[in-house]
Amino acid sequence: MAEQNRKIIFSRERIAAEIKRIGQEITQDYGDEEIMLVGVLKGSFLFIADLIREIQTPSVIDFVRLASYGSGTKTSGIIEFRKELEMSIRDRHVIIIEDIVDSGYTLECLYNKLLLQEPRSLKICTLIDKRARREVDIEADYIGISMEEGFIIGYGLDHDEKYRNLPDIYLVETS
Ligand code: IMP
Ligand code: MG
Repeated sequence: MAEQNRKIIFSRERIAAEIKRIGQEITQDYGDEEIMLVGVLKGSFLFIADLIREIQTPSVIDFVRLASYGSGTKTSGIIEFRKELEMSIRDRHVIIIEDIVDSGYTLECLYNKLLLQEPRSLKICTLIDKRARREVDIEADYIGISMEEGFIIGYGLDHDEKYRNLPDIYLVETS
């Protein structure tokens, strides 16, 4: 992927501002009631690290690892659980923390699985919402930035496991 084929679409300043806003929303919604953030690895690792520091509500954290993509830029539709939760979510206020919701298959699969474990409440937070590409009926409760078409990299998001370290989010031009 040549450098000239990508351009910044969401700056680090924009990302930080949206995360601050989501942190305030979550703090307002839950107050002093303890919440559990469930980060979806690997893509959400930077987002969750920044978000949890903007939340004043008492928070605990755990991670799952899901994989839906091969090396292409479109979902395979097959979701693989590579790491399960270590803590119980029963009777907890749980928020799933995703990097990006695209077709929605990954999130739907995780959401339904967690629901079976009887959390007190279950919400979804995503940094990026690619709503136009949704193929299943699932919506995030907290959304950082909405976008249309396009493949993006940086700030945790990869292409073939690379570019997660870029501090800004770039749109990759595929033509
Ligand atoms: P979905 O199941 O189609 O919603 O795919 C969601 C997952 O695909 C995300 O958690 C990402 O890991 C990955 N993904 C979707 N769109 C992009 C993108 O534009 N850049 C990088 N990863 C993406
Ligand atoms: Mg992901």
